[in-house]
Amino acid sequence: MKLLIINGPNLNLLGLREPEIYGNETLFDIESWLINQPEVDDHTITWFQSNHEGELIERIHDAMGNVDGIVINPGALTHYSYALRDAIVAVNIPTVEIHLSDINTREEFRKISVVKDVCLAQLSGLGKKGYLEAIKKLIH
Ligand code: DQA
Repeated sequence: MKLLIINGPNLNLLGLREPEIYGNETLFDIESWLINQPEVDDHTITWFQSNHEGELIERIHDAMGNVDGIVINPGALTHYSYALRDAIVAVNIPTVEIHLSDINTREEFRKISVVKDVCLAQLSGLGKKGYLEAIKKLIH
């Protein structure tokens, strides 16, 4: 399968950003770990990160016809971006939402995800393993 892993705003700062919540590993560390997991052998994985909502939307559009599944950590856009939600619906590609932290046990505003019900599943609070679990859901 061709899989696209999308990370939204501020996830480029992983490793530096609030390590007590998000851990000490960088996004690159997580990517390197993930591509070495046996479960992802035989699959093509592409990573994309942007701090810009429009760039994330365009990357989702570009996936149409080219990608079999999307794993998305939309960062704070999770909580309010109807444009991102519409993009996920528009391309009709199976998508799994993931969060490193458990968004259900943090501030009230994080409990709301406007993309949750247009995704196959929401995985939250599993750290980097969430990316792998999301991929497993798409593969099966
Ligand atoms: C996050 C949770 C969001 O609430 C936050 O805005 C992020 C990261 C997570 O991975 O836990 O940027 O998506």
